[in-house]
Amino acid sequence: MSSPLKIAIVGIGQRGLQHLENLIKLEENEMVKIQSLIDPFSENLLEKNIRKNIPSYSQKNYSLYTDYDEFLKKEEVDAVWFVIPPNQHKKEIIETAKRGISIFAEKPQSLFLDQVKEMAEVIEKNEINSIVGFQMRYDPWYKELNSYLSDKWVASITMYHGGGVESHGVKYTHTEKMDGPGNRIWTANRLWSGTSMVEAGIHQTDLMRFWASDDIKWVQAAYTERPKELHNIEGDNPIAYHVTYGFKKGGTANLIFTRPANVIFQERFDYILTTHSLIKFEENLVAYGIQDKEKKSNNKKILAKGPHEEPMGNQNTYEISKSFVESIIEKNEKLRLNSFQNSINSLSTVLAANVSNSLGGERIEIDEFTNSPKFSKYRQSNLK
Ligand SMILES: NC(=O)c1ccc[n+]([C@@H]2O[C@H](COP(=O)([O-])OP(=O)(O)OC[C@H]3O[C@@H](n4cnc5c(N)ncnc54)[C@H](O)[C@@H]3O)[C@@H](O)[C@H]2O)c1
Repeated sequence: MSSPLKIAIVGIGQRGLQHLENLIKLEENEMVKIQSLIDPFSENLLEKNIRKNIPSYSQKNYSLYTDYDEFLKKEEVDAVWFVIPPNQHKKEIIETAKRGISIFAEKPQSLFLDQVKEMAEVIEKNEINSIVGFQMRYDPWYKELNSYLSDKWVASITMYHGGGVESHGVKYTHTEKMDGPGNRIWTANRLWSGTSMVEAGIHQTDLMRFWASDDIKWVQAAYTERPKELHNIEGDNPIAYHVTYGFKKGGTANLIFTRPANVIFQERFDYILTTHSLIKFEENLVAYGIQDKEKKSNNKKILAKGPHEEPMGNQNTYEISKSFVESIIEKNEKLRLNSFQNSINSLSTVLAANVSNSLGGERIEIDEFTNSPKFSKYRQSNLK
């Protein structure tokens, strides 16, 4: 496919604006031509409002739509970035895939697994180029770790992620008009976000899969619920998530994920264990383990030199979009570090963690959760 790639962005909210800013950079490099912006709330499409986030933004000749079907009928594009709340998907991705258009889907692909499976089927059938917005896969340190671990067996991962429930700041979906939270922070609301495990913990879950080049086989979870009297102000998502994963290759992992209120603080630590090494994120990315058995020396190997830039940050958001665009132009699938289909394991796992918690910590097999009639009630849309 020749450049520039003709593209559209659906959902010009918190994340959509970040994508827009990066895609403008790719437009300046003539890799893409932004053709359309789509959002049901017309004020989110106004130049003056977009400028509050992207001061240099100018509307140029972008076409603007508040209705996705109308956009699909009128415009011809090569790729669409889907950046809408995960409980709001209808047939947009399916209709887009049927037209042969490449798909960048933000995580979580939807809250409803049956819907995601239908999307994946059409994407596969039509051989659509696809990617899911796990930008941490493009982090230089994490890519290095993935490569270091590629010839090793990952026996154990321990990951702690601490962050506050308000860290998502401003949201742009008018949830107050849609039976959702009055303050628009839908990420703190269970029905809209599917819990913070689904909305945010999916990143950490996907990262473990990426490091280990493995899929998750089973999950067990125990959550600490937020006290009911706080739901009105802080949302009804749990305060803490304690989750254990079993990998297909036999290793295990623990993810502790916390979302207290009034705590504007983020921290993560990780311990990754192979049969003969312990990997840690220090000033540098290091592996402990004797490198030279004869001399019993060199216990610490530097895998990547610091400082480590914020892995969830803007640079990796730029990189994932750039790689997606290049992969389409150069017809090089290897530049895509995931696909819609192979990202389903990350989504199924976090949705299954919710179910495990609700069943008192029962171990749930991910393949069974994804496919068996036993779990079908947990995979269906609860939209009216
Ligand atoms: N990869 C990341 O680091 C990252 C970061 C933040 C958000 N996200 C994901 O991006 C998605 C959007 O989150 P957000 O923070 O931008 O939310 P948001 O509410 O700020 O923005 C969503 C936008 O989509 C629009 N919208 C809502 N329903 C729509 C529909 N049916 N069709 C078209 N547009 C619609 C809204 O009007 C709003 O402008 C979510 O899936 C979220 O999990 C990913």
